[in-house]
Amino acid sequence: MYLDLARPPEGFTENPYPIYRGLLQEAPVLAQPDGSYLISPYHLLELIYRDTDRFSSDKQTVFKPKYGDSPLLEHHTTSLVFNDPPLHTRVRKIMAGAMTPSAIAKLETGLLILVDSLLESLPDFRVNGAVEVIKHFASRIPVHIIGNLFDIPIDEREPLRDWSLSILGALEHNLSPGGEIAGNNAVVEFTNYLDDLAKHRRKNPGNPDTDVLTRLMFSDKGELSTAELLHNCIFILNAGHETTTNLIGNAIGAVDAHPQQKANLIENPDLINTAVDEFLRFESPNQLGNRLTTCDVELDGHHIPSQTNLHLIIGAANRDPQKFDNPDKFNLRRKPNRHLAFAGGPHACIGLNLARLEGKIAVGKFINQYPGFNVVSSKRSERLRFRGYSELHIALD
Ligand code: HEM
Repeated sequence: MYLDLARPPEGFTENPYPIYRGLLQEAPVLAQPDGSYLISPYHLLELIYRDTDRFSSDKQTVFKPKYGDSPLLEHHTTSLVFNDPPLHTRVRKIMAGAMTPSAIAKLETGLLILVDSLLESLPDFRVNGAVEVIKHFASRIPVHIIGNLFDIPIDEREPLRDWSLSILGALEHNLSPGGEIAGNNAVVEFTNYLDDLAKHRRKNPGNPDTDVLTRLMFSDKGELSTAELLHNCIFILNAGHETTTNLIGNAIGAVDAHPQQKANLIENPDLINTAVDEFLRFESPNQLGNRLTTCDVELDGHHIPSQTNLHLIIGAANRDPQKFDNPDKFNLRRKPNRHLAFAGGPHACIGLNLARLEGKIAVGKFINQYPGFNVVSSKRSERLRFRGYSELHIALD
C-alpha cells in the first residue's frame, strides 16, 4: 500500500478510507518522497501527541521556506497550536482560562435561536427542489457563534468566513501561488480588523462573563502581547470555523447514508449525545496533523531522523481496528468512543465542548425538523487536511 500526500490518487478525497485501511495493515509508518513520514495507527498518534519533547509543534523551520517572511509566516508561527512550551503553555493557560465552561454555556441560548431561524428559512433557498446546506446552514453556525464569543458586531461578520478559508487553505500540502496571495491578504485584513476591534474594546471593555476578547485582554492568568492577542484570536476564529462546518455537513451526509441509524436517531433524539462523537470519529473534520521530530526516534521499527516532518493521519487512527471494534461501522451508540478528532495531549482542542454543543444542536434540530430529508447530490472539498463537503444538496422532505 502506498500514498504520496503530494500526489494523492484519483478519488482520494471522495473516499480515503480504503487507502487508510491499507496503510494501517501494510504501511503504518510510511516514508514520503520528500523525507517526511505518514503515521496512521491510533497508538502512535496518542504517543506522539503526548510527547512534546520529542515531537514538536513549532513550525518555524517548516513554514519559513514555505511562506518566506510574510504575514502568513507571522500568523502561523505566533498561533499557540504551532508552538511548544514555554510559549505554548503560557498562551494556552490564558486562552483556556478565557474559554470557560460557563462562557460556552452562555452561548447556548443564542445557538438555539440561530439554528431555529436558519432551519425555518431553509425552504426559501430551494433550487430545483433541493437546498445547499453547507452554504445556507452548516457554515452559517460557527461564524455566528464565534462572532458571539468575541462579541463581533453582526454587520461586520460577513468577511470572516472567506478570511478564515483563505488562511487555512494556505496550510494545504500543495499550495498554489493564488492560494498563497489570498492567504497573506486575508491575514493582513483580518489583523487590521481585529486590531481596531481590540483597541475599541480596551477603551470600552465588554462583559467578561460572555465576551472572550475582553477576558483575553484583561486575563488574570497572564498577559498576551498585541501580536499574540491578534493572531490567537484569528486562530480561534479559524480553528472553530471550517472544522465545525465540516462536523455538521459530514454528520448530515453520514446519517443520510445509513437509514437504520437515521431511524434510530429520529425515534430517540437523545441519541444525539453519543452520536456527535461517532460523527467526529467516522468522518473526522480534521484529517491530518503534523509534528516535527526533535531527535532521532524509533517508530514501529522505523528509524526516523531528527527534524523529520510527521503527518499524523487522524482519519486513519480513528478507524484503527486495534482501537475500535468494527471501525468502518457507523454506530451512533458506540461506547467507549475515545477518538482523536480533537487530537490529544497538551495541544488537544480548546474548543471541543463548544464544537460538540454546536454539532448536537445543529444536527439534532435539523433531523427533528426535516426527518424526511435526503441527499440529492454532493461534492467533497478537495482539501486533504480538512474533510468536508463543498456542496451538499438536500431535498428537505
Ligand atoms: C469539530 C470541530 C473541531 C475540530 C475537529 C477541532 C480539531 C482540533 C485539533 C485536531 C486540534 C489539535 C491540533 C494539533 O495540535 O495538531 C485543535 C486545536 C485547537 N482547537 Fe480545535 N477543533 C474544532 C473546533 C474548535 C473550536 C470551535 C474552537 C474554538 C472556538 C477550537 C479551538 C482550538 C484551539 C485554540 C486549538 C489549539 C490548542 C493548542 O494548541 O493548545 N477548535 N482542534
